[in-house]
Amino acid sequence: MSRRTLPVATSAQVRATARSLLGRHRRALTLMLVLNALAALAGLAGPRLLGEVVESVRDGSSRGHIDRLALLLAAALTVQTVLTWFARRAGFVLGEAVFARLREGYLARVLSLPLSTVERAGTGDLVTRSTGDVEALARTVRFAVPEVLVATVTVVLTVVAAFVTSPPAALPMLAGAPLILIGTRWYLRRAPAGYLRERESYAQCNGSLAETVDGARTVEALGLGQRRLRRIEADLAEAHAAERYTLRLRTIWFPTMELAYALPVTLSLVWGGWLVSQDRASLAQVTAVTLYAVQVVDPVDRMISWLDEVQVGATALARILGVDLVPDDRVEGDAVPQDEHVVVEDVRFAYRDRDVLHGIDLDLRPGERLAVVGPSGAGKSTLGRLLAGIHPPRTGTVTVGGVPLVDLPLDDLRRRVVLVTQEHHVFVGTVAENLLLARPDATEGELRAALAAVDSLDWVLALPDGLDTEVGSGGRPLTPAQAQQVALARLVLADPHTLVLDEATSLLDPRAARHLERSLAAVLRGRTVVAIAHRLHTAHDADRVAVVEDGRIDELGSHDELIAEGGSYAALWDSWSADPSAATAR
Ligand SMILES: Nc1ncnc2c1ncn2[C@@H]1O[C@H](COP(=O)(O)OP(=O)(O)O)[C@@H](O)[C@H]1O
Ligand SMILES: [Mg+2]
Repeated sequence: MSRRTLPVATSAQVRATARSLLGRHRRALTLMLVLNALAALAGLAGPRLLGEVVESVRDGSSRGHIDRLALLLAAALTVQTVLTWFARRAGFVLGEAVFARLREGYLARVLSLPLSTVERAGTGDLVTRSTGDVEALARTVRFAVPEVLVATVTVVLTVVAAFVTSPPAALPMLAGAPLILIGTRWYLRRAPAGYLRERESYAQCNGSLAETVDGARTVEALGLGQRRLRRIEADLAEAHAAERYTLRLRTIWFPTMELAYALPVTLSLVWGGWLVSQDRASLAQVTAVTLYAVQVVDPVDRMISWLDEVQVGATALARILGVDLVPDDRVEGDAVPQDEHVVVEDVRFAYRDRDVLHGIDLDLRPGERLAVVGPSGAGKSTLGRLLAGIHPPRTGTVTVGGVPLVDLPLDDLRRRVVLVTQEHHVFVGTVAENLLLARPDATEGELRAALAAVDSLDWVLALPDGLDTEVGSGGRPLTPAQAQQVALARLVLADPHTLVLDEATSLLDPRAARHLERSLAAVLRGRTVVAIAHRLHTAHDADRVAVVEDGRIDELGSHDELIAEGGSYAALWDSWSADPSAATAR
């Protein structure tokens, strides 16, 4: 199955973001560059002084003169070291500030991603972007960008210094430039696509592996092992090919650069020697320039090798910014719902191209308990998701108090309608913290009341630290049924007007489930509850029952009415009451 990945930003968007980030930190950036320029200037004194030393030695100057030169050299080095330290510090501080801003922005974007998009793209891509890409970007922002800026300043100053020392002797300094320009252009033209492919192949590997591990039991049960293995092998082969490609780029580019570095030094010696023999430059000048040619190799190399890293960072940034390009599936309006009356009108919905709901009408009477039953795959969960405003309908409307659910700001929507499914998450933290997520200002008494409402106070108090017991990954494991109860207790605390429970008690044994549903009903009196049920006692206890079949509501009425009608609900009920363990509503 091929799947669409999340979008990726264009290089123009990446450049604009980089510019605006640097613009926002202009003062810190200037400080860093000035400090670095000063450090570089101090470093440039070295070759000049060494040149003087060489000439003095040849001319047989006094030792005092040479000692003075040596002292100056030491002083210049010390100044350079101190300035470099401050300059680097300024660079790191800037990098951290920029990265912190990027990361905050990214987190906010990820948390507001439309659920439907995340489902379609798979979580592997999002996980890779949040880990690998963010890490790559951190490295770029913390090290690569400051290094490139600093190295550029140093290179320019060094070349200028060589020309100031002696223009004719300095000419070989430029000999490597064409090689560097052509080689680097060649490389940079090919590298972005290469690295993008590499990162995408990692995302694909992550996705396949995570899916296989998550679904290990299903894979085993259905004997899909070989298929999954082939899939993972194909993903690995693609990652391998992508890595080979970028490696080939580097094996051509790096040697070209080595040649470009060696050339100016060699030429400078040969050419400088000739200049001295012709008396067109002094020995001191040629020595200084040759040393500059040696000295410039390091910053040029740093500049270029970090440029490679900047490239990787830019690719990562493109993927991170891409998350922002996901079109919003909800457009927040200003309309305020008049009441809590939820109405579904002529709703059709498709996950891909095929409609799974075909014109659903449903008027939820405020305060009623509606049970939804029907065979598996009928569209019950889909209807639940639309009732909770998770997906917008393809056509038709789902409104609360006259306002479409998908026009409400998420915060507001979640105060009105909440969905609880079979999938829950126990967060790392204490039981109390897990509950407080739903209502941060709840008192301990309220937490206990919520737990009591879902028949869970007893087992929670029996935990080693009661409400303060650490649960979730790494903490005390909860059974699936307990996790389900914690999710329901959260729901009680959130206290929305409309609740959609999608088989939310399915993991409890039937008797416990029925007891829980009854105590929950007592707490939720006055709330509208839609209970998607696979046990018919839920339907029996409800005010109305909707039978969903093949994306349509086939029957709608009270238990007694539907029994009297003698339709498919009546048939289901007959077989279920004869043997509740054999037949369920699905
Ligand atoms: N995330 C999804 N992507 C694509 N198709 C889906 C998705 N979820 C459900 N479907 C399809 O929609 C139809 C209705 O599914 P669902 O609402 O889960 O039914 P029910 O809850 O009644 O078992 C099924 O054909 C199912 O395969
Ligand atoms: Mg379902």
